[in-house]
Amino acid sequence: MDHFTYRNRVLHCDEVPVPVLAEKYGTPLYVYSRKTLVHHLKAIQTAFKAVDPLVCYSIKTNGNLHIARLMVEGGAGCDVTSGGELFRALKAGCSADKIVFAGAGKTDAEIRTALEHNVFLFNVESEGELSAIAEIAKSMGRVANVALRVNPDLPPKTHAKTDTSVKGVKFGLDIDTVLEFAQNVLKNPHIKVVGLHMHLGSPIITVEPYRQGMVKGLVLIDKLRRQGHQITVWNMGGGFGIHYKKNEALPASAFAEVIVPAIQESGCRIVLEPGRFIVGNAGLLVSRVIYTKDSGGKHFVIQDAAMNDLIRPTLYDSFHRIWPVAPAQNFAPPEDFQIENPGTKKCDVVGPVCESGDFLAKDRYLPPMTRGELLATFSAGAYGMAMASNYNGRPRAAEVLVDGGEHHLIRRRETFDDLIRPELEC
Ligand code: LLP
Repeated sequence: MDHFTYRNRVLHCDEVPVPVLAEKYGTPLYVYSRKTLVHHLKAIQTAFKAVDPLVCYSIKTNGNLHIARLMVEGGAGCDVTSGGELFRALKAGCSADKIVFAGAGKTDAEIRTALEHNVFLFNVESEGELSAIAEIAKSMGRVANVALRVNPDLPPKTHAKTDTSVKGVKFGLDIDTVLEFAQNVLKNPHIKVVGLHMHLGSPIITVEPYRQGMVKGLVLIDKLRRQGHQITVWNMGGGFGIHYKKNEALPASAFAEVIVPAIQESGCRIVLEPGRFIVGNAGLLVSRVIYTKDSGGKHFVIQDAAMNDLIRPTLYDSFHRIWPVAPAQNFAPPEDFQIENPGTKKCDVVGPVCESGDFLAKDRYLPPMTRGELLATFSAGAYGMAMASNYNGRPRAAEVLVDGGEHHLIRRRETFDDLIRPELEC
């Protein structure tokens, strides 16, 4: 479910025609639907209601303060992965006792700040990290609550760059040796192991990896308890997939069906760290066609959004649905964007950046596009703006939040001055 619909052949976000937004705020432009954001958060909270979940919005996905604040107002905590994200989560009004701190490379300064704020949990990924947390907690006269992040060594389940639970990736503690590790922690008075953490990867579009993870997790929790750890929290991370190509994603209830019984059996409190599921389909990237051209047997649509605005297609070969914002008659968006429809033309949708890897889509069937027309790239709310850069001297896009008939600028377009601001006078 999202709130982007075509009415009389014009794409709307809620009640607002997207061309109105493009005119007012310029392009490239990220447009988010407040209703969709709130709906998706609620969908997860409801699906897991039976186990009273602590849903920690994964702020890396889209950290805009307005969006993070919406999550906090909706009852979510935050999953943070750096000092910067901790800062952002606190700025968004998240109370520290709902913050979980993940990441394989937490620095001493980050650990200290997190302890000062009394975050709910550290997700610990290595022996070195655990020693650092223990040492810093000791110097502060504190005890740190930690969850052991385990790599459960499951079969590949998503793109290699974002699969975090296969052998050989940097994430988590090795499931084969984690018990030895946990045994040693028992002696440490400044660390309390209260949880197990198991983020499997992202995006995941079947429940099978979760089913497998839960089986391994139950065994592990039992063994950790036998060692003497009082495990009360089971954090399954994020990873729930969304619609990128068509309606391929599962509802939150499908994941809950697999996860909830195991959580009940463990007697733990569940923590979830969803990001993409909440914000992915709630955002689109609007761009304007600058030129079209034919070259080397290809037809190119050159528009003003580039890899610096949305790097996912070139980084992960990811597929985003793209369609004109106001298509000519007979060009309603297709059910399946991967097949050729009558009257469409095969093209590469590319941007102005000086790399051949600068594209939003390749070999895509679109109605004939002309200079000045608007394009919408769908499902761009997650890891779009969050991974945007200034490459090629491009100011980052503006972001707008739409609510019913209203729209608010929630991040202004960067200026050329913004590009050089942190550089010192020469
Ligand atoms: N928790 C942990 C520990 C994570 O590493 C991540 C994502 C999440 C939660 C949130 O996962 P989600 O619910 O959003 O799937 N840039 C890539 C995705 C990187 C995912 C990083 N970790 C992309 O654009 O596909």
